[in-house]
Amino acid sequence: MCGIVGYLGKRRVSEVLTGGLTTLEYRGYDSAGVALSDGNTLQIVKKVGRVKELEEKLSSMELIDATYGIAHTRWATNGGVMDENAHPHNVGRVTLVHNGIIENANALKESLSKEYDFQSETDTEVIAALIDKELKAKDPVIAIRDAVKQLTGSFALVIMIDGESNKLYATRKDSPFIIGIGKDEVVMASDIPAILDYTNKYMLLDTYEVAELTAHDVKIYAEDGAIVSKEVKETTYLKEEAGKNGYPHYMLKEMMEEPIVVENLINYYQDKLEKLDLSKYEEIHIVACGSAMYAGMVGKSLLEKYAHIPTTVEVASEYRYQTVLYTRKTLVILISQSGETADTIAAMNKVKEEGIDTLAIVNAEYSTIANEADNVLFIKAGPEIAVATTKAYILQTLVLTMLARETAHNKGLLTDDEYNSLIEDYKEIPRQIKSVLEKRDLYKNLAKEIYKHEDVFFIGRGIDYSMSMEGSLKIKEISYIHSETFQAGELKHGTISLIDEGTPVIAIITDELTKDKTYANVLEVVARGAKVIIATTEKLDNYEELKIVVSTTSEFVQPLLVVPGLQLLAYEIAVLRGCDIDKPKNLAKSVTVE
Ligand code: AGP
Ligand code: GLU
Repeated sequence: MCGIVGYLGKRRVSEVLTGGLTTLEYRGYDSAGVALSDGNTLQIVKKVGRVKELEEKLSSMELIDATYGIAHTRWATNGGVMDENAHPHNVGRVTLVHNGIIENANALKESLSKEYDFQSETDTEVIAALIDKELKAKDPVIAIRDAVKQLTGSFALVIMIDGESNKLYATRKDSPFIIGIGKDEVVMASDIPAILDYTNKYMLLDTYEVAELTAHDVKIYAEDGAIVSKEVKETTYLKEEAGKNGYPHYMLKEMMEEPIVVENLINYYQDKLEKLDLSKYEEIHIVACGSAMYAGMVGKSLLEKYAHIPTTVEVASEYRYQTVLYTRKTLVILISQSGETADTIAAMNKVKEEGIDTLAIVNAEYSTIANEADNVLFIKAGPEIAVATTKAYILQTLVLTMLARETAHNKGLLTDDEYNSLIEDYKEIPRQIKSVLEKRDLYKNLAKEIYKHEDVFFIGRGIDYSMSMEGSLKIKEISYIHSETFQAGELKHGTISLIDEGTPVIAIITDELTKDKTYANVLEVVARGAKVIIATTEKLDNYEELKIVVSTTSEFVQPLLVVPGLQLLAYEIAVLRGCDIDKPKNLAKSVTVE
């Protein structure tokens, strides 16, 4: 995890670096630091806390007139959150920033400890020492390559070397890294939004390639030392898309984008429907983490019920180590907003080794999962910056519903009339989500009922249960309220003992088949003093309780109308609790360590 930035060029280097870190801060925010150089002098400034605090420190100091530099915002993996462990790390001639985790750091540290006196607890400092050691006998590009080949784990590195003035070096394995190419300037970063102020042209590095960069020239060396000619890509992300657009939080801005991104995605796939046909598969495994996995649970319900394909949903970190018996024609669907989640990548690698087909549902188009899966369906959310996912979850779910719809139709399990009527339902989604999101006052009022509590429960059955999982995670993540989800029917087998006078219980009831049973469970908790909120549809609504009511639509589309309301509810609760909504404690946007 973490964000790294590097810059060579004529602008004020410290400002480019801290600007980049601010854009990347969603990736980690334990500490931040920069290293600046004018070609002769090296100045390192680092500090525990947010980028803002680093900026304040920098503005109170006399800074050198730098021509290049590197920067880092950390999500600690090895070593506590303290100034000594903040990056950049300097050892001998080498100063570097690192995104990732080195699994053999302890062994390497021990073998280097006679020559080096380590100042931090990080794995990163070991990389710096290793490169410094290699530099004693080799040129920088070869020294870096030979050093990183000794590492196990993941890394993206930007490196400054004493004696190599006005040059930066970079390399990577399993951590994202982008080299933005401007006019007489080069800006490198962990993610596209951090380069957009300077350029929309960029290059990607493959594993173990080493880049040697000046403000005017980028040389990339392959693992065998040969120069590689790289394609210069152009990103279509717009800077405005990556800003807050006047909203107080990215999370709110990203929720408000749901109607438009949903409309765009429906239109985008309209002439590519054949890509959504899974009818040749006898079995599907959906593998993902967190919200992406919860989107997968909605997909499972629909794929099984309508497309008649047995489907399992697995947490990626578990799937990786499970004994999975592939006995039928299986497709593994990997879902990931970032495309960089280490657990999901590890699961994908295992599946590929087995020779099983992989299909990725991904947002970040330049990411590892997008590059390496056999087939990719992009969700085209644009940048999602808030740590809590909103629009990406909705778009992942949308794609899964379309996979179920197209497959069911192609298998003759939906008649043409049913299919055509569904297509009409999809056209309504943007307007319907908009009307859910417009009811800010409703969610503000419901939030007042919940925000002072420390425990919340969600209940639902079937697809309603899957939606509850996402609603519950949103509350946990951003407001730090303990929230749990239960299959409504399971409550009476133990959990109901947790219900006390006033305990908030949120029940999702959109499924005709189970509505009465779930409502019976609602009454059971009401009888024990719970304060209930029901999320339901206009058609089913005859409830007296507090409620969120959305338009009635087909089962394919219903989750896309219910979950935005749950997201907004979680948001308003976190506002009332005064939480740091876009950057909740202990979290980071993309989890690039296992
Ligand atoms: C969602 O709000 C969470 N931040 C988290 O569960 C996230 O969905 C998960 O880490 C997966 O991320 P990915 O989609 O980038 O793979
Ligand atoms: N493993 C390094 C550390 O703990 C880098 C973590 C990161 O990617 O932020 O400092």
